[in-house]
Amino acid sequence: MARDPRYDILFEPVRIGPVVSKNRFYQVPHCSGMGATWPQTLAAMRGVKAEGGWGVVCTEYCSIHPTSDDTPYPFCRLWDEDDVRDQALMTEAVHAHGALAGVELWHGGYHALNRFSREGHIGPSARPVHGYDPVQARAMDRTDIRNLRTWQSDAAKRAVRAGFDIVYVYAGHTYMPAQFLSPRFNDRSDEYGGSIENRARLLREMIEDTREAVGPNVAVAVRLMVDEFIGPEGILAEREGKEVLEMLGELPDLWDVQLGEYHVDARSSRFVKEAAQEPYVAFVKRYTTKPVVGVGRFTSPDTMVSQIKRGILDMIGAARPSIADPFLPSKIEQGRIDDIRECIGCNICVASNGTGTPIRCTQNPTMGEEWRRGWHPERIAPKHRDDTVLVVGAGPAGLEAARALGERGYQVHLAEASGELGGRVPREATLPGLSEWIRVRDWRQGQIARMTNVEIYRESALTADQVLEFGFPNVVIATGSTWRRDGVGRAHHRPIPGADGLRVYTPDDLFAGTPIEGPVLLFDDDHYYMGGVVAEALSARGLAVTLVTTAGTVSAWTSASLEQSYIQAQLIEKGVDIVVNHSLIRIGTEKMTLACAFTGRERTLPARSAMLVTARIAEDELYRALAADPGRLSAAGIVSLRRIGDCSSPGTIAAAVHAGHRYAREFGEASVDEPGFRLEHLRHEERQQFG
Ligand SMILES: Cc1cc2nc3c(=O)[nH]c(=O)nc-3n(C[C@H](O)[C@H](O)[C@H](O)COP(=O)(O)O)c2cc1C
Ligand code: SF4
Repeated sequence: MARDPRYDILFEPVRIGPVVSKNRFYQVPHCSGMGATWPQTLAAMRGVKAEGGWGVVCTEYCSIHPTSDDTPYPFCRLWDEDDVRDQALMTEAVHAHGALAGVELWHGGYHALNRFSREGHIGPSARPVHGYDPVQARAMDRTDIRNLRTWQSDAAKRAVRAGFDIVYVYAGHTYMPAQFLSPRFNDRSDEYGGSIENRARLLREMIEDTREAVGPNVAVAVRLMVDEFIGPEGILAEREGKEVLEMLGELPDLWDVQLGEYHVDARSSRFVKEAAQEPYVAFVKRYTTKPVVGVGRFTSPDTMVSQIKRGILDMIGAARPSIADPFLPSKIEQGRIDDIRECIGCNICVASNGTGTPIRCTQNPTMGEEWRRGWHPERIAPKHRDDTVLVVGAGPAGLEAARALGERGYQVHLAEASGELGGRVPREATLPGLSEWIRVRDWRQGQIARMTNVEIYRESALTADQVLEFGFPNVVIATGSTWRRDGVGRAHHRPIPGADGLRVYTPDDLFAGTPIEGPVLLFDDDHYYMGGVVAEALSARGLAVTLVTTAGTVSAWTSASLEQSYIQAQLIEKGVDIVVNHSLIRIGTEKMTLACAFTGRERTLPARSAMLVTARIAEDELYRALAADPGRLSAAGIVSLRRIGDCSSPGTIAAAVHAGHRYAREFGEASVDEPGFRLEHLRHEERQQFG
């Protein structure tokens, strides 16, 4: 298919100082959870982005010196020549597909906890470090500032040796130069504090130093947090944002602008939609003739075109859209708009980094698997021989298994008990803020609709006898899971007394439309999004809701997906009562008994209904019935039987999609030894150094 001429503008080349991007698609710096720890894994992932058509592909935050150490999070590093060699793997992979490689040189200031390097902490003024580590940063003196500038210059020279085309000064996300800019962090009285000219001095010097270090053939970019999003105490777009651009607008070769810390900048779709940063960054182009990159979870080519045509941005910055679909630019270029796998804004990708592990994605199961398993987002091995698979259950695991098996050319029969595909996805997408999650179902359903080798049977709940009767040689069970009704979970290993009562519900009852009487006590011992979002849904029905959690905060795990503070604020705003650090220990008809998680001290709360969000039970009866009798299986001609996704071990939608994809990838292949992927090891010659 040909490109729609409406999108031609997206494919215009853009000059960035001495280098030229082939188009306007710019993969802004984003963590991979790989960093310096897994350089080959990282290089392969970035290479796939370049192959997918991004004009510029950047690293994640890349430390310039051991005083900026983010261990245990796997950040990138340019501390020495070995780091140069590791980074060169990435630039080579990116250059191989005609893209430019950018490196985001990083000094974290207060954000650098230096747990591994054990270096002292530095920042513009004396302050405790970010988080709760019991250490403080000293106010940098002139020697510290001189050292910082030297580290930036030295790292910039290493970046050039590693082959980068664009080298950043990173004044985003409240890192070092942004800390100097921000009134809340900077109370200096010397030439680096006070007026905006003084607070911007370090940024100016770092841009000039970097320019000198990289020489004439490499571009210098600045990532600037134009608004800190905390009000007048911090950087404001109409104050520091505008003033910095007025003063320094022409100094770098490119401005990459963003809002606030990560939880503001990469807000989940539950709280903001596409292009949400526009009102805050629209002014930037008035103050510079240099190309401006901005972000906003852009997945729609029409929105992208509109950003360019209305003079908001010159280049379309993307982190999450490039993770969910590394081939987004190519698909627009080839006129394959319906094939774009749009990001759902769930922030599982961010959570990977936040848990110190290689990045994964709900929509794109190949993310993070490019090197270690050799998975490619757009290519999958064709079948080696004719074979047929019965997939039972069309939730995220079954649907992805059917889609990927279909793409390989296998004959697939997909049986779904209900009338709708997607399993938990369409149900959960009805919850407040989660409507974009339906993209998990819609993309797969759309792809399957074009396949002639995938048959779908709706309203087809199958029994073991029926599966045996069909006699399809390969059967994969993906029948999902249901929420437990007995309260067993992390806090309780036995049913909660009273859980067999009349007005005890789970999220499945909410999905089924069961009438629920208030006041409701919601007990969350799951700690991901479900407890918080169900509380919100019940409150939206006008019910009085008290959310009780064994954790210290609501939806505690969502701090990894950067949502926790928003969820708790939203529930408070909606009038949901919150009781933390308590367990529900007895369910009565009109009153519930709680126990303090620390002392065990009991208290009661009046409530007519209990909503239990504790754990799920795999819906695996069909699997167990079939697996129980291998003789009957082989008599029926069934040669393989597997269970995948929530029906095997309930988890995230991302885990279910990955399980379905993995099943399809490995189906019919020579058996893979555990763990089924390559590990990165020290190179042999390095090992010898240690005898
Ligand atoms: C997984 C992930 C990791 C990120 N890591 C970085 C980083 O290392 N450096 C940085 O400047 N921004 C980082 N960001 C922020 C993104 O660059 C971007 O500004 C933000 O996600 C908004 O863009 P998007 O809506 O296209 O995702 C990260 C974002 C994500 C999703
Ligand atoms: S994990 Fe979720 S938010 Fe991140 S890129 Fe994938 S779909 Fe988007």
